[in-house]
Amino acid sequence: MSKILVTGGAGFIGSHTVVELQNAGYDVTVVDNLSNSSEKSLERVAAITGKKAPFHKVDICDREGLEAVFAAEHPDAVIHFAGLKAVGESTQKPWEYYENNIAGTLTLVDVMRKNGCKNIIFSSSATVYGNPAEIPITENCPKGQCTNPYGWTKSMLEQILSDIQKADKEWNVILLRYFNPIGAHKSGTIGENPNGIPNNLMPYITQVAVGKLPELGVFGNDYDTHDGTGVRDYIHVVDLAIGHVKALKKIEEKAGLKIYNLGTGQGYSVLDIVKNFEEATGVKIPYTIKPRRPGDIAECYADASLAKAELGWEAQYGIREMCEDSWRWQKNNPNGFED
Ligand code: NAD
Ligand code: WQD
Repeated sequence: MSKILVTGGAGFIGSHTVVELQNAGYDVTVVDNLSNSSEKSLERVAAITGKKAPFHKVDICDREGLEAVFAAEHPDAVIHFAGLKAVGESTQKPWEYYENNIAGTLTLVDVMRKNGCKNIIFSSSATVYGNPAEIPITENCPKGQCTNPYGWTKSMLEQILSDIQKADKEWNVILLRYFNPIGAHKSGTIGENPNGIPNNLMPYITQVAVGKLPELGVFGNDYDTHDGTGVRDYIHVVDLAIGHVKALKKIEEKAGLKIYNLGTGQGYSVLDIVKNFEEATGVKIPYTIKPRRPGDIAECYADASLAKAELGWEAQYGIREMCEDSWRWQKNNPNGFED
């Protein structure tokens, strides 16, 4: 298996994964409609790896466009990142989220099987656990009630891909449930580039640090956690990217259907992140305590032992490096890929 199609490869996690795939010797092709990314990320990837991945500006809902890509590239496997991911926006535009994420994936999978490509790694999320029934969260933890349409698209797509694999054992399907990806490539040339005011904690902090936003709002300090603020399992995006390379090796061994958490197993609160960011970068982050954000849970962190046992994968980077690398990217690129 050598030719890999990466959907959503111009995005945050996709671009870092293209780097690690190319470094591991894979021949990578990217499909992205650039709805939440810039083609410049792929130029930066090529500068890092010395290899330019063929890029097709195609929407995964566009069957003919996808068929042309398969006819040209003949991929052996697909790593499927393409999707809309803004939790708040999904509550305002549920149809758009279901159409893009679910109809898009159904079209992709149909084009794949018609072309004899039945290997897929899917970007799922810890959001499928809802308010988790157990902490740390193992893959056996029951899936929960999602609090937004985005989360439901992940939960439903897990079900759809699982059912397709159960009906046709030629398929190999790996569902990767990411916890909270942050950080950036060490070069500081690729990273997360949110549109408008960030929803997620780390890009909000880096934009405060670079002076684009005045202060951080901490959403609630009355949770049942060690300091009252929400606890999450932050994972360096390069570790996450390497997890996909390991999952591809598993696919090569005819994995069938597998589900893995990709997290560090370590939980940090919002205030832990602020403190670590300040210590790692020397930049002060002013903050005020705000009310809880609707839909948030107190704690969410992984039991990551299954991925270690079955994929031989374990996160290497700690919270300091996550903060340093997020900051290097933001400082060098205050306006993302627009400079
Ligand atoms: P991102 O927005 O940076 O990347 C997604 C990419 O998909 C973008 O480049 C976008 O332009 C592209 N895209 C969206 N719809 C498309 C379509 N219809 N056709 C073609 N391309 C399309 O997001 P990311 O953070 O890199 O996330 C990648 C995947 O991982 C997503 O599926 C996301 O839901 C999932 N995920 C992300 C997180 C996170 O916190 N970042 C956590 C869990 C899961
Ligand atoms: C982390 C913590 C906030 C912003 C989301 C999605 C999830 C997944 C990852 C895709 C929480 C607090 C945040 C701020 C804050 N994405 N916070 N002030 O909510 O764990 O997960 O991204 O699958 O589906 O829901 O991540 O970074 O938004 O929040 O205090 O300005 O930081 O309350 O405790 P979350 P986050």
